[in-house]
Amino acid sequence: MELLLLSLTVLSVFTSAADILVLMDHTDIKESHSLFFDSIISRGHKIIYKLPDSQGLRLEKFDDYLYSTVILMCPGEGMIYLDLNGKVSVSDLVKFSDNGGNLVIFGDVDAASHYRKLANDFGVDFYEQGTRLYSEKKEKTIATTNITSPISILPTSKAPIKFSGIGLYYNQNSKLLTPLISTSKDQYVRNEFKKTDVKEPVVFAVAFQGRNNVRAVFVGSVDVCANSYMKDDSLSNNKMCVELLKWAFQEKSVLRYSGITHYKTESKKNKGYLEGEYTINDDLMFSIDIEELKDGKWQEYKTSKAYVEFVMLEPKIRKYLEFKNGSLVTHFRAPDIHGVYQFKVFLNNPGFSWIESATKVTVRPYKHNQFERFLPCAYPYYASVFASMSGFVVFSFYFLYHKNT
Ligand SMILES: *[C@@H]1O[C@H](CO)[C@@H](O)[C@H](O)[C@H]1NC(C)=O
Ligand SMILES: *[C@@H]1O[C@H](CO)[C@@H](O)[C@H](O)[C@H]1NC(C)=O
Repeated sequence: MELLLLSLTVLSVFTSAADILVLMDHTDIKESHSLFFDSIISRGHKIIYKLPDSQGLRLEKFDDYLYSTVILMCPGEGMIYLDLNGKVSVSDLVKFSDNGGNLVIFGDVDAASHYRKLANDFGVDFYEQGTRLYSEKKEKTIATTNITSPISILPTSKAPIKFSGIGLYYNQNSKLLTPLISTSKDQYVRNEFKKTDVKEPVVFAVAFQGRNNVRAVFVGSVDVCANSYMKDDSLSNNKMCVELLKWAFQEKSVLRYSGITHYKTESKKNKGYLEGEYTINDDLMFSIDIEELKDGKWQEYKTSKAYVEFVMLEPKIRKYLEFKNGSLVTHFRAPDIHGVYQFKVFLNNPGFSWIESATKVTVRPYKHNQFERFLPCAYPYYASVFASMSGFVVFSFYFLYHKNT
């Protein structure tokens, strides 16, 4: 028992030893981005810094991931070492994301092919090799205030964000991707090889949130979070870098659900009660609690955008949930078709975690004694039965006792 406890504490110490892995092209980044890393540490995280070709670099041990988030600041050839070493490859990073790990990916003008391959797996790509963003005055350092992100990810800001870097393409049909920061329409994209300048707004940062609620952020510049910009109060770099990481680390805009309850409306039950089965045409009540993580605490989340579907193969009923007394509630009448149904709840608020829940329930037909006995609409038929019975008696007597004269 003691041995077990000991090993458990050792294990927990080991997993809390570091939850952030930073992979960088060269160790100077640790100095040039110290404010950025300090902001991470000040929120209670531990960071491990590695070069992509370090010996002993690994993401997992005994099938458990050692990190919750990996920050990639190695757009150069460094990534190639990852694959050559065979320890951490692009597919390992994708697998890491599939299994719940978050990624923050800083690209740059020299983003190498492996880096692009990783971004492609998320539906994002960097602009062609040799392109660079230029300001209105054709300078390499550009400033923009064009924040297209929902405020659940980045706050709005009047102060500009400054950087030098490359633009991003992203799959605009994907619901998983959200553009965050763009340049303005007076700024340029220059292709240094072809010597062309194109004046157009370009997306510079994109957020990804998977169906499993893992998050990844792609940014077209490493230096956007460097000290020289972060410490300048006239710029919003500091605020943006910090908020971007809070989002990527699942520290904000995180939702969860609990307390699913459903029963027949006329039977008032307690929260958490799940009715075993319903009969067709029953009036029923469904409720769910959705909470948001705010300042480290779970608080109720008021929304009018969550809806429930009552599904058998296809949704038979779809209703928005109303916020009442701390829960999201709705009432509806079960359909006239019996079968096995699911209550499916969906909430897709931009920047927030996806909510999708499914609860199975049976809807059965009436039992033989549940049908109504005397239907008012059937009285003509009852009357006709009695009419023919009395007719039978009357005509029997008539034919038996009537004499033709
Ligand atoms: C901001 O970026 C968007 C998307 O890239 C673009 O359509 C829009 O024109 C830009 N706004 C300004 C003021 O440049
Ligand atoms: C609101 O919820 C509380 C606790 O869950 C309960 O005691 C109270 O009766 C509810 N109020 C209404 C109006 O349903």
